[in-house]
Amino acid sequence: MDEAWLRKEIFPKFSRVLERGEIYLANHSLGRPPDRVADDVRAAVDAWYRDLDGAWDSWLQHRERFRSLTAKLVGSPRADCIIPKTSAGQGLRAVLNSFATKPRVVTSDGEFDSIDFILRVYREQGRIELKITPWQELSAQGADLVVLSSVMFRTGEIVKHLPKLIHDAHAAGALVLLDVYHHAGVLPLDLAALDADFAIGGSYKYTRGGPGACWLYVRPGLVETLRTPDTGWFAKKDVFAYARPEPPEFGPGGDAWLESTPPVLACVQALAGLELTLALGVERLRKYSLAQKKILSERIPGCEGAGENHGAFVTLKHPAAKSISEKLEEEGVKTDARGEYLRICPDILNTRAELEKAAAIVTPLVKQ
Ligand SMILES: Cc1ncc(COP(=O)(O)O)c(C=O)c1O
Repeated sequence: MDEAWLRKEIFPKFSRVLERGEIYLANHSLGRPPDRVADDVRAAVDAWYRDLDGAWDSWLQHRERFRSLTAKLVGSPRADCIIPKTSAGQGLRAVLNSFATKPRVVTSDGEFDSIDFILRVYREQGRIELKITPWQELSAQGADLVVLSSVMFRTGEIVKHLPKLIHDAHAAGALVLLDVYHHAGVLPLDLAALDADFAIGGSYKYTRGGPGACWLYVRPGLVETLRTPDTGWFAKKDVFAYARPEPPEFGPGGDAWLESTPPVLACVQALAGLELTLALGVERLRKYSLAQKKILSERIPGCEGAGENHGAFVTLKHPAAKSISEKLEEEGVKTDARGEYLRICPDILNTRAELEKAAAIVTPLVKQ
Protein backbone atom coordinates (compact mmCIF):
# COMPACT_ATOMS: atom_id res chain seq x y z
CA MET A 1 0.00 0.00 0.00
CA ASP A 2 1.79 3.15 -1.20
CA GLU A 3 0.60 6.57 -2.28
CA ALA A 4 0.44 5.70 -5.98
CA TRP A 5 -1.75 2.66 -5.24
CA LEU A 6 -3.98 4.62 -2.87
CA ARG A 7 -4.45 7.40 -5.44
CA LYS A 8 -5.52 4.87 -8.03
CA GLU A 9 -7.60 2.48 -5.95
CA ILE A 10 -8.84 4.38 -2.91
CA PHE A 11 -9.00 8.12 -3.65
CA PRO A 12 -11.78 7.63 -6.24
CA LYS A 13 -13.93 6.10 -3.49
CA PHE A 14 -13.72 9.46 -1.67
CA SER A 15 -14.35 11.81 -4.59
CA ARG A 16 -16.91 13.92 -2.72
CA VAL A 17 -14.88 14.67 0.36
CA LEU A 18 -11.69 15.17 -1.64
CA GLU A 19 -13.38 18.01 -3.53
CA ARG A 20 -12.76 20.09 -0.43
CA GLY A 21 -9.60 22.11 -0.88
CA GLU A 22 -8.18 21.99 2.63
CA ILE A 23 -5.47 19.77 4.11
CA TYR A 24 -7.57 17.69 6.49
CA LEU A 25 -5.59 16.46 9.47
CA ALA A 26 -8.43 15.95 11.95
CA ASN A 27 -8.91 12.32 11.02
CA HIS A 28 -8.69 11.38 14.72
CA SER A 29 -11.90 13.38 15.18
CA LEU A 30 -14.47 13.14 12.41
CA GLY A 31 -13.32 10.53 9.90
CA ARG A 32 -13.81 11.27 6.21
CA PRO A 33 -16.67 9.26 4.67
CA PRO A 34 -16.42 7.19 1.48
CA ASP A 35 -18.85 8.19 -1.30
CA ARG A 36 -20.69 4.92 -0.73
CA VAL A 37 -22.09 6.12 2.61
CA ALA A 38 -24.56 8.38 0.82
CA ASP A 39 -25.64 5.54 -1.52
CA ASP A 40 -26.10 3.10 1.36
CA VAL A 41 -28.15 5.56 3.40
CA ARG A 42 -30.24 6.48 0.37
CA ALA A 43 -30.96 2.80 -0.33
CA ALA A 44 -32.04 2.27 3.29
CA VAL A 45 -34.32 5.32 3.12
CA ASP A 46 -35.67 4.23 -0.29
CA ALA A 47 -36.64 0.90 1.33
CA TRP A 48 -38.64 2.87 3.90
CA TYR A 49 -40.63 4.75 1.21
CA ARG A 50 -41.12 1.64 -0.85
CA ASP A 51 -41.76 -1.04 1.76
CA LEU A 52 -42.75 0.88 4.90
CA ASP A 53 -42.52 -1.61 7.76
CA GLY A 54 -41.37 -4.21 5.26
CA ALA A 55 -38.04 -2.39 5.38
CA TRP A 56 -37.29 -3.80 8.83
CA ASP A 57 -35.87 -7.06 7.45
CA SER A 58 -33.17 -5.28 5.46
CA TRP A 59 -32.61 -2.67 8.19
CA LEU A 60 -31.98 -5.40 10.76
CA GLN A 61 -29.71 -7.25 8.35
CA HIS A 62 -27.63 -4.08 8.13
CA ARG A 63 -27.53 -3.85 11.92
CA GLU A 64 -26.34 -7.45 12.12
CA ARG A 65 -23.67 -6.74 9.54
CA PHE A 66 -22.56 -3.74 11.60
CA ARG A 67 -22.27 -6.05 14.60
CA SER A 68 -20.30 -8.71 12.76
CA LEU A 69 -17.88 -6.28 11.05
CA THR A 70 -17.26 -4.52 14.35
CA ALA A 71 -16.71 -7.89 16.04
CA LYS A 72 -14.09 -8.73 13.44
CA LEU A 73 -12.36 -5.37 13.91
CA VAL A 74 -12.08 -5.62 17.69
CA GLY A 75 -11.54 -9.34 18.18
CA SER A 76 -14.92 -10.15 19.63
CA PRO A 77 -15.46 -13.91 19.36
CA ARG A 78 -19.16 -13.40 18.58
CA ALA A 79 -21.11 -10.74 16.72
CA ASP A 80 -23.87 -10.74 19.33
CA CYS A 81 -21.35 -9.54 21.95
CA ILE A 82 -21.38 -6.22 20.07
CA ILE A 83 -24.37 -4.19 21.24
CA PRO A 84 -25.11 -1.22 18.94
CA LYS A 85 -25.33 2.05 20.83
CA THR A 86 -25.70 5.63 19.68
CA SER A 87 -22.71 6.78 21.74
CA ALA A 88 -19.83 5.31 23.70
CA GLY A 89 -21.28 6.95 26.80
CA GLN A 90 -24.54 5.08 26.33
CA GLY A 91 -22.54 1.85 26.48
CA LEU A 92 -20.84 2.96 29.69
CA ARG A 93 -24.19 3.77 31.30
CA ALA A 94 -25.59 0.34 30.42
CA VAL A 95 -22.64 -1.21 32.25
CA LEU A 96 -22.80 1.11 35.29
CA ASN A 97 -26.51 0.42 35.60
CA SER A 98 -25.94 -3.35 35.56
CA PHE A 99 -24.45 -3.39 39.07
CA ALA A 100 -26.98 -4.48 41.68
CA THR A 101 -25.22 -2.52 44.43
CA LYS A 102 -23.32 0.77 44.32
CA PRO A 103 -20.10 -0.08 42.42
CA ARG A 104 -16.70 1.26 43.34
CA VAL A 105 -15.28 2.59 40.06
CA VAL A 106 -11.66 3.44 39.34
CA THR A 107 -10.81 5.51 36.29
CA SER A 108 -8.01 7.67 34.89
CA ASP A 109 -7.80 11.44 34.67
CA GLY A 110 -7.23 11.06 30.91
CA GLU A 111 -10.65 9.80 29.86
CA PHE A 112 -12.63 11.60 27.18
CA ASP A 113 -15.03 14.25 28.46
CA SER A 114 -18.20 12.28 27.77
CA ILE A 115 -16.97 9.32 29.82
CA ASP A 116 -15.49 11.50 32.54
CA PHE A 117 -18.70 13.56 32.81
CA ILE A 118 -20.95 10.52 33.06
CA LEU A 119 -18.79 9.05 35.83
CA ARG A 120 -18.75 12.32 37.79
CA VAL A 121 -22.53 12.74 37.45
CA TYR A 122 -23.11 9.15 38.61
CA ARG A 123 -20.92 9.92 41.60
CA GLU A 124 -22.79 13.17 42.31
CA GLN A 125 -26.08 11.28 42.23
CA GLY A 126 -24.78 8.71 44.70
CA ARG A 127 -24.88 5.88 42.15
CA ILE A 128 -21.18 5.00 42.17
CA GLU A 129 -18.08 5.56 44.26
CA LEU A 130 -15.39 7.06 42.07
CA LYS A 131 -11.62 7.23 42.27
CA ILE A 132 -9.74 9.16 39.56
CA THR A 133 -5.97 8.73 39.15
CA PRO A 134 -3.38 9.23 36.41
CA TRP A 135 -3.52 6.13 34.20
CA GLN A 136 0.09 5.26 35.01
CA GLU A 137 -0.88 4.93 38.70
CA LEU A 138 -4.17 3.17 38.27
CA SER A 139 -4.78 0.26 40.62
CA ALA A 140 -7.87 -1.91 40.74
CA GLN A 141 -7.46 -2.77 44.43
CA GLY A 142 -10.79 -2.28 46.18
CA ALA A 143 -12.66 -1.59 42.92
CA ASP A 144 -15.57 -3.34 41.26
CA LEU A 145 -15.03 -1.73 37.87
CA VAL A 146 -12.06 -0.18 36.08
CA VAL A 147 -12.86 2.27 33.26
CA LEU A 148 -9.82 3.01 31.14
CA SER A 149 -8.87 4.07 27.61
CA SER A 150 -6.41 1.84 25.79
CA VAL A 151 -5.17 4.87 23.80
CA MET A 152 -5.37 8.29 25.46
CA PHE A 153 -7.45 10.84 23.57
CA ARG A 154 -5.35 13.93 24.41
CA THR A 155 -1.84 12.60 23.91
CA GLY A 156 -2.32 9.45 21.84
CA GLU A 157 -0.30 7.42 24.36
CA ILE A 158 -0.94 3.70 24.23
CA VAL A 159 -1.59 2.38 27.72
CA LYS A 160 1.27 0.08 28.56
CA HIS A 161 0.94 -3.35 30.09
CA LEU A 162 -2.79 -3.61 29.39
CA PRO A 163 -2.84 -7.43 29.68
CA LYS A 164 -1.19 -7.25 33.12
CA LEU A 165 -3.49 -4.46 34.20
CA ILE A 166 -6.54 -6.52 33.23
CA HIS A 167 -5.10 -9.64 34.85
CA ASP A 168 -4.41 -7.77 38.10
CA ALA A 169 -7.87 -6.18 38.05
CA HIS A 170 -9.48 -9.60 37.73
CA ALA A 171 -7.29 -10.95 40.52
CA ALA A 172 -8.53 -8.04 42.67
CA GLY A 173 -12.14 -8.94 41.83
CA ALA A 174 -12.79 -6.02 39.46
CA LEU A 175 -14.29 -6.02 35.98
CA VAL A 176 -12.62 -3.95 33.26
CA LEU A 177 -14.23 -1.65 30.71
CA LEU A 178 -11.86 -0.40 28.00
CA ASP A 179 -12.56 2.70 25.94
CA VAL A 180 -11.03 1.71 22.60
CA TYR A 181 -12.32 4.65 20.56
CA HIS A 182 -8.75 5.67 19.60
CA HIS A 183 -7.62 2.06 19.21
CA ALA A 184 -10.16 0.24 17.02
CA GLY A 185 -9.22 0.67 13.37
CA VAL A 186 -5.82 2.14 14.30
CA LEU A 187 -3.98 -0.71 16.04
CA PRO A 188 -4.67 -4.41 16.00
CA LEU A 189 -7.17 -5.19 18.75
CA ASP A 190 -8.14 -8.55 20.25
CA LEU A 191 -10.59 -7.99 23.07
CA ALA A 192 -10.97 -11.72 23.65
CA ALA A 193 -7.21 -12.25 24.03
CA LEU A 194 -7.03 -9.24 26.35
CA ASP A 195 -9.83 -10.78 28.41
CA ALA A 196 -11.57 -7.39 28.63
CA ASP A 197 -15.01 -7.64 30.22
CA PHE A 198 -16.47 -4.65 28.42
CA ALA A 199 -15.37 -2.22 25.74
CA ILE A 200 -16.87 0.87 24.15
CA GLY A 201 -16.09 2.54 20.86
CA GLY A 202 -17.64 3.91 17.73
CA SER A 203 -17.39 4.65 14.04
CA TYR A 204 -17.13 8.45 14.20
CA LYS A 205 -13.36 8.60 13.79
CA TYR A 206 -11.11 6.02 12.23
CA THR A 207 -13.74 3.84 10.61
CA ARG A 208 -15.45 6.75 8.85
CA GLY A 209 -19.02 5.99 9.90
CA GLY A 210 -20.11 9.37 11.25
CA PRO A 211 -22.00 10.01 14.48
CA GLY A 212 -24.41 7.56 16.09
CA ALA A 213 -22.78 4.27 15.10
CA CYS A 214 -21.23 3.26 18.40
CA TRP A 215 -21.16 0.00 20.31
CA LEU A 216 -20.68 -1.76 23.61
CA TYR A 217 -18.82 -5.07 23.81
CA VAL A 218 -19.73 -7.46 26.61
CA ARG A 219 -17.59 -10.59 26.79
CA PRO A 220 -18.98 -14.08 26.33
CA GLY A 221 -19.90 -15.55 29.69
CA LEU A 222 -20.93 -12.16 31.05
CA VAL A 223 -23.24 -11.12 28.24
CA GLU A 224 -25.57 -14.05 29.00
CA THR A 225 -25.56 -13.75 32.78
CA LEU A 226 -25.28 -10.05 33.65
CA ARG A 227 -28.44 -8.01 33.09
CA THR A 228 -28.74 -4.27 32.60
CA PRO A 229 -31.90 -2.26 33.25
CA ASP A 230 -31.04 -0.27 30.09
CA THR A 231 -33.42 -2.44 28.15
CA GLY A 232 -36.50 -2.50 25.94
CA TRP A 233 -38.56 -4.83 23.82
CA PHE A 234 -35.77 -5.67 21.37
CA ALA A 235 -34.01 -7.39 24.31
CA LYS A 236 -36.99 -9.75 24.82
CA LYS A 237 -37.09 -13.39 23.90
CA ASP A 238 -39.24 -13.65 20.72
CA VAL A 239 -39.47 -9.91 20.17
CA PHE A 240 -42.62 -10.06 18.09
CA ALA A 241 -44.50 -12.66 20.20
CA TYR A 242 -45.80 -9.91 22.53
CA ALA A 243 -45.70 -12.37 25.43
CA ARG A 244 -45.31 -11.08 29.00
CA PRO A 245 -43.89 -13.94 31.04
CA GLU A 246 -42.94 -13.47 34.69
CA PRO A 247 -40.11 -13.04 35.28
CA PRO A 248 -39.31 -11.30 31.99
CA GLU A 249 -37.45 -13.48 29.50
CA PHE A 250 -34.49 -12.18 27.55
CA GLY A 251 -33.30 -12.87 24.01
CA PRO A 252 -30.31 -15.14 23.44
CA GLY A 253 -26.72 -14.10 24.11
CA GLY A 254 -25.91 -10.45 23.56
CA ASP A 255 -29.38 -9.74 22.20
CA ALA A 256 -30.41 -9.58 25.87
CA TRP A 257 -28.46 -6.27 25.97
CA LEU A 258 -30.40 -4.67 23.11
CA GLU A 259 -32.85 -1.91 23.99
CA SER A 260 -35.95 -0.34 22.51
CA THR A 261 -36.74 0.21 18.82
CA PRO A 262 -33.24 0.90 17.47
CA PRO A 263 -31.99 3.61 15.15
CA VAL A 264 -31.05 1.82 11.94
CA LEU A 265 -29.50 4.41 9.65
CA ALA A 266 -26.44 4.86 11.88
CA CYS A 267 -25.49 1.22 11.34
CA VAL A 268 -26.05 1.59 7.58
CA GLN A 269 -23.92 4.73 7.50
CA ALA A 270 -21.02 2.86 9.17
CA LEU A 271 -20.81 -0.16 6.86
CA ALA A 272 -18.74 1.26 3.99
CA GLY A 273 -16.00 2.55 6.28
CA LEU A 274 -15.86 -0.64 8.32
CA GLU A 275 -15.63 -2.74 5.18
CA LEU A 276 -12.84 -0.57 3.81
CA THR A 277 -10.91 -0.67 7.08
CA LEU A 278 -11.12 -4.45 7.22
CA ALA A 279 -10.27 -4.84 3.52
CA LEU A 280 -7.16 -2.66 3.84
CA GLY A 281 -6.30 -4.32 7.14
CA VAL A 282 -5.48 -2.60 10.39
CA GLU A 283 -1.83 -3.73 10.33
CA ARG A 284 -1.25 -2.18 6.91
CA LEU A 285 -3.06 0.98 7.95
CA ARG A 286 -0.88 1.17 11.04
CA LYS A 287 2.30 0.80 9.01
CA TYR A 288 1.19 3.58 6.67
CA SER A 289 0.20 5.79 9.60
CA LEU A 290 3.60 5.32 11.29
CA ALA A 291 5.35 6.44 8.09
CA GLN A 292 3.08 9.50 7.82
CA LYS A 293 3.59 10.45 11.46
CA LYS A 294 7.35 10.22 10.87
CA ILE A 295 7.15 12.67 7.97
CA LEU A 296 5.38 15.18 10.23
CA SER A 297 7.57 14.69 13.29
CA GLU A 298 10.78 15.09 11.29
CA ARG A 299 9.58 18.46 10.08
CA ILE A 300 7.73 19.96 13.06
CA PRO A 301 9.91 20.82 16.06
CA GLY A 302 8.52 19.54 19.37
CA CYS A 303 6.17 17.12 17.65
CA GLU A 304 5.40 14.10 19.88
CA GLY A 305 3.73 10.76 19.44
CA ALA A 306 5.27 9.68 16.17
CA GLY A 307 6.45 6.24 17.26
CA GLU A 308 5.01 2.86 18.13
CA ASN A 309 3.94 3.95 21.62
CA HIS A 310 1.22 6.22 20.32
CA GLY A 311 -1.94 5.87 18.28
CA ALA A 312 -2.74 7.54 14.96
CA PHE A 313 -2.13 11.20 15.74
CA VAL A 314 0.85 13.32 16.72
CA THR A 315 0.68 16.17 19.21
CA LEU A 316 2.29 19.47 19.96
CA LYS A 317 2.11 20.61 23.56
CA HIS A 318 1.69 24.36 23.54
CA PRO A 319 -0.19 26.76 25.87
CA ALA A 320 -1.75 28.39 22.79
CA ALA A 321 -2.75 25.10 21.14
CA LYS A 322 -6.34 26.23 20.54
CA SER A 323 -5.42 29.49 18.83
CA ILE A 324 -2.74 27.74 16.78
CA SER A 325 -5.36 25.30 15.56
CA GLU A 326 -7.64 28.23 14.64
CA LYS A 327 -4.84 29.98 12.75
CA LEU A 328 -4.06 26.75 10.92
CA GLU A 329 -7.67 26.46 9.86
CA GLU A 330 -7.47 29.97 8.36
CA GLU A 331 -4.50 28.72 6.35
CA GLY A 332 -6.42 25.69 5.10
CA VAL A 333 -5.03 23.09 7.51
CA LYS A 334 -7.64 21.40 9.68
CA THR A 335 -6.41 20.12 13.07
CA ASP A 336 -7.85 20.40 16.56
CA ALA A 337 -6.76 21.09 20.11
CA ARG A 338 -7.57 19.44 23.42
CA GLY A 339 -6.29 21.50 26.32
CA GLU A 340 -2.61 22.16 25.70
CA TYR A 341 -2.39 19.55 22.98
CA LEU A 342 -2.62 20.39 19.29
CA ARG A 343 -3.61 17.12 17.60
CA ILE A 344 -2.59 16.33 14.02
CA CYS A 345 -3.76 13.12 12.41
CA PRO A 346 -3.00 12.10 8.84
CA ASP A 347 -4.82 9.29 7.10
CA ILE A 348 -4.55 7.37 3.82
CA LEU A 349 -6.11 10.28 1.92
CA ASN A 350 -3.29 12.67 2.85
CA THR A 351 -0.48 12.84 0.30
CA ARG A 352 3.15 13.30 1.19
CA ALA A 353 3.02 16.74 -0.46
CA GLU A 354 0.13 17.71 1.83
CA LEU A 355 2.02 16.62 4.93
CA GLU A 356 5.11 18.56 3.88
CA LYS A 357 3.02 21.64 3.16
CA ALA A 358 1.15 21.36 6.46
CA ALA A 359 4.43 20.98 8.37
CA ALA A 360 5.76 24.13 6.70
CA ILE A 361 2.65 26.05 7.81
CA VAL A 362 2.59 24.63 11.36
CA THR A 363 6.27 25.15 12.19
CA PRO A 364 6.45 28.99 12.30
CA LEU A 365 3.20 29.12 14.30
CA VAL A 366 4.47 26.84 17.05
CA LYS A 367 7.80 28.68 17.23
CA GLN A 368 6.04 31.98 18.01
C1 LIG B 1 -11.68 8.20 23.88
C2 LIG B 1 -13.05 8.64 23.48
N1 LIG B 1 -14.12 8.03 24.03
C3 LIG B 1 -15.37 8.37 23.70
C4 LIG B 1 -15.62 9.38 22.79
C5 LIG B 1 -17.02 9.75 22.43
O1 LIG B 1 -17.92 9.55 23.51
P1 LIG B 1 -19.49 9.68 23.24
O2 LIG B 1 -19.79 8.73 22.14
O3 LIG B 1 -20.11 9.30 24.53
O4 LIG B 1 -19.77 11.08 22.84
C6 LIG B 1 -14.55 10.05 22.20
C7 LIG B 1 -14.82 11.13 21.22
O5 LIG B 1 -14.05 11.90 20.81
C8 LIG B 1 -13.23 9.69 22.57
O6 LIG B 1 -12.17 10.33 22.06
